[in-house]
Amino acid sequence: MGVGAEVVGLTKSFNGNKPVWSDVSLTVPSGDITVLLGPSGTGKSVFLKTLIGLLRPDRGKVFIDGQELTAMSDRELYAIRQRCGVLFQDGALFGSMNIYDNIAFPLREHTRKTEREIRRIVMQRLDVVGMVGDEDKLPSEISGGMRKRAGLARALVMDPELILCDEPDSGLDPVRTALLSKTIAELNAETGATFLIVTHDINTARTLPHHIGMLYLGQLVAFERREQMLASDKPVVRQFLNASIEGPIGMTEEKDANGQNGQTAQQPFGVAQ
Ligand SMILES: Nc1ncnc2c1ncn2[C@@H]1O[C@H](COP(=O)(O)OP(=O)(O)OP(=O)(O)O)[C@@H](O)[C@H]1O
Ligand SMILES: [Mg+2]
Repeated sequence: MGVGAEVVGLTKSFNGNKPVWSDVSLTVPSGDITVLLGPSGTGKSVFLKTLIGLLRPDRGKVFIDGQELTAMSDRELYAIRQRCGVLFQDGALFGSMNIYDNIAFPLREHTRKTEREIRRIVMQRLDVVGMVGDEDKLPSEISGGMRKRAGLARALVMDPELILCDEPDSGLDPVRTALLSKTIAELNAETGATFLIVTHDINTARTLPHHIGMLYLGQLVAFERREQMLASDKPVVRQFLNASIEGPIGMTEEKDANGQNGQTAQQPFGVAQ
């Protein structure tokens, strides 16, 4: 079964600079699929890393399965991370290991399973992502899309209860993006695992998740059930979900900051806790 995550009043900055985002509160409901949207550079990847305890927030609290990460010892953090699968934006495969060894790595590192058991699990996950036959290749020998899928297979190998995917579909063609969405929906239905997915793919956002959140100009500007989000009258949400050039979001931060976003960006409503 999936575990939920919750953040309360979360703020993150780097080196004393303006926060990437401030006062973010939301609940990633257990067993559901949630998609996080937002223009490039709004801190989606930073959010995922903070949620999993790889980055420390300036303020606020993170809970996974009701346990506060921000108060955990390294050992407790290690234990909770083992229940989570992460697909990083760049795939983060080890360049010197073939795909098989990359996917087997967490099992060899964190379990006492025999190589025979490991083989069964690795081949099953390769099958899920459609990569049986590619196990002997090095990451440099496969396409970017295949590296993503191998990263997903590795994220799934420990039967995680919470799965974080940072742009699993970037670099995939439309058919494979749709197939990946289907794979995620099936995994969610079969295992009940909770998914939090960062994507720029509007089609995925419109069809896959139960909930959608959006970060914009350092704020969580919306977090709602998908149907409500798709019907939102907030200009920034409408522009993003319609991939429109008309609206508050511009090409540069400067335009965003000086644009007509005003109220929308200033009045976030997360799931208040
Ligand atoms: N380790 C770090 N040290 C300093 N600044 C960082 C670090 N990681 C991220 N940032 C900054 O935080 C901001 C948000 O970055 P992030 O990668 O989270 O954006 P994003 O929303 O994931 O963008 P994209 O859609 O392009 O992947 C950027 O300004 C980035 O430069
Ligand atoms: Mg990112």
